[in-house]
Amino acid sequence: MSTVALAGPGTFLGSSIGKKVVMAVTGLMLFGFVLGHMAGNLQVYLPHPEEAMRSYALFLHGFLHGAGIWVARLGLLAAAALHIWAATSLTIQNKEARPVGYRQWVGWESTYASRTMRWSGVILLSFIIFHLLHLTTGQVHPQFEDMNPYRNLVTGFQQLPVSIFYILSMVLLGMHLAHGVWSMLQTLGLSHPRYKKLAQKAAVAFASLVVLGNISFPIAVLAGILK
Ligand code: HEM
Repeated sequence: MSTVALAGPGTFLGSSIGKKVVMAVTGLMLFGFVLGHMAGNLQVYLPHPEEAMRSYALFLHGFLHGAGIWVARLGLLAAAALHIWAATSLTIQNKEARPVGYRQWVGWESTYASRTMRWSGVILLSFIIFHLLHLTTGQVHPQFEDMNPYRNLVTGFQQLPVSIFYILSMVLLGMHLAHGVWSMLQTLGLSHPRYKKLAQKAAVAFASLVVLGNISFPIAVLAGILK
């Protein structure tokens, strides 16, 4: 089936609501991963973190005789690709719908996070590529040890510029998530005025949870709590 048949004019994926649904569903999958990933990493605070993290990694790598991790990786990759496709395609569609731009800037209707969704998305993609080369494959890690995620995390974050890069990326991730969760709730129909404030608060609360949990790792290493 060609892409025109799947996402061409008149099809569900060709419509802006179709693309928004793709963004919401794939965003939810990516968000679920980020939450689960953070929960897994919180094991660094257990009494025997090196063993706990190693067993967790061995479990993930051996799940379904090694097939499980590949199913999850392919699922994540497909979700990320569709999320980026829908975002790019919606941007192009919006530009085509109003090529001239507004005479007066209507920025006060949008928040800082919503105006920065596109570039925060691009920076996050660069973060993910760096992160994979850093803590999964080790090419950009100075002392990478195979199957020792705890040690890699500690020695990795002992480098100040790397920790700063992670902390800044996590703040961006938080802004991206807060606006993303909020947009997703609207696309999925939870935009009733009565729930608007509640949805906004829920989005900010979830995003803050992820930012605080994730930035705690480099901070705990730099403070000498994790060693
Ligand atoms: C400070 C925050 C983070 C820490 C400490 C961290 C830590 C780690 C570690 C130790 C691994 C390697 C696990 C292993 O090989 O067993 C890993 C893998 C990974 N991380 Fe993170 N991570 C963080 C944030 C993120 C974020 C925000 C994302 C996505 C937006 C992410 C996406 C991934 C992915 C996709 C993998 C590869 C999983 C695989 O295919 O094996 N991480 N992370």
